[in-house]
Amino acid sequence: MTITLNQPITIGGLTLKNRLVMAPMQQYKGTPEAYATEHHIQHYGRRARHVGLMILESTAVSADGRLVPNDIGIFTDQHVEPLREIVKAVHAHNTHIFIQLSHGGRKSSPEVTRTLVAPSAIPFDEVYGTPEALSIDEIQRLVDDYRLAARRSLEAGFDGIEIHAAHGFLVHEFLSPLSNKRHDHYGGSPENRTRFLREILTAIRGEVGQDYPVIIRVSATDYAEGGLTPASIAQMLKPFESELDAIDVSTGGLLPIQPKDVHTGYQLPHAAVFKQLLHMPVIAVGNLHSRSIADRILEDELADSIAIGRPLLSDPDYADTMLTPESLGI
Ligand SMILES: Cc1cc2nc3c(=O)[nH]c(=O)nc-3n(C[C@H](O)[C@H](O)[C@H](O)COP(=O)(O)O)c2cc1C
Repeated sequence: MTITLNQPITIGGLTLKNRLVMAPMQQYKGTPEAYATEHHIQHYGRRARHVGLMILESTAVSADGRLVPNDIGIFTDQHVEPLREIVKAVHAHNTHIFIQLSHGGRKSSPEVTRTLVAPSAIPFDEVYGTPEALSIDEIQRLVDDYRLAARRSLEAGFDGIEIHAAHGFLVHEFLSPLSNKRHDHYGGSPENRTRFLREILTAIRGEVGQDYPVIIRVSATDYAEGGLTPASIAQMLKPFESELDAIDVSTGGLLPIQPKDVHTGYQLPHAAVFKQLLHMPVIAVGNLHSRSIADRILEDELADSIAIGRPLLSDPDYADTMLTPESLGI
């Protein structure tokens, strides 16, 4: 049977009504304490009707891990209530929503971060400045922040969790040999560089159990020699195949380097590598904005779901242009 965007997909035991995903996109509208606001409730609720899955924007697990000062967070129990209102607004449309848990590491906002931290004391650029290399105790405290964030995500009613391991933020910084030069058991070999991720995943699973969807967003390439590649990441994630329920494939962000050309499907070849090398659903993203392109990708089995970002910012009903009239009930 030919797979199309309209068809359901099961991720971690959860069946989504179609294969169109709203990509995580920061709204830059959190309060100074990182609470979500009425803006977020309206914004996500308004876009929920026809996508199969929404992924909430980057949500900080620690006060010091916000990417920008007005990011939202989930680092106290008080953050749960406004997040629950977003979930309710999305569920009202029979749509599922995952939360993206993140920590900015060396790219945390200097304005609201007391101490910039990273696996190694290597700066992203002069603006962010040089981070402090994390001690083992500090790493353990961060793992616990993820654990508490997972517990609160459940309390808020989210249907799943996406671990943000892309775009040069903390988990990505541990994974890449370009930003992780540690000599202890968190650095060096691929296995050591995945240790932080493994501990986060174990902590999250300890809170949510095995039957709750937990997915990961990765940057498939660092766009630099010696950096991560789809094949090296696939190898690193192979041991997690039974722990992770899908992989969401972005690129870049570790270094101040932009891809030369962001044409339609520029990240798709990377997604296709994961589709071949890993046994988990693959979400492709990056300028995949038409039904014909999406259906072609699914038909050719290059990915299992398609995420769209920017078009949904400017047109809340953009999903309608990508699904068939029948699936929209027209
Ligand atoms: C305003 C904006 C905010 C974004 N915020 C996030 C984010 O919080 N987390 C993340 O992983 N990616 C973020 N992204 C990247 C998007 O999820 C997506 O990968 C990117 O926009 C490419 O998809 P598109 O071509 O369909 O827009 C953001 C993108 C935009 C435009």
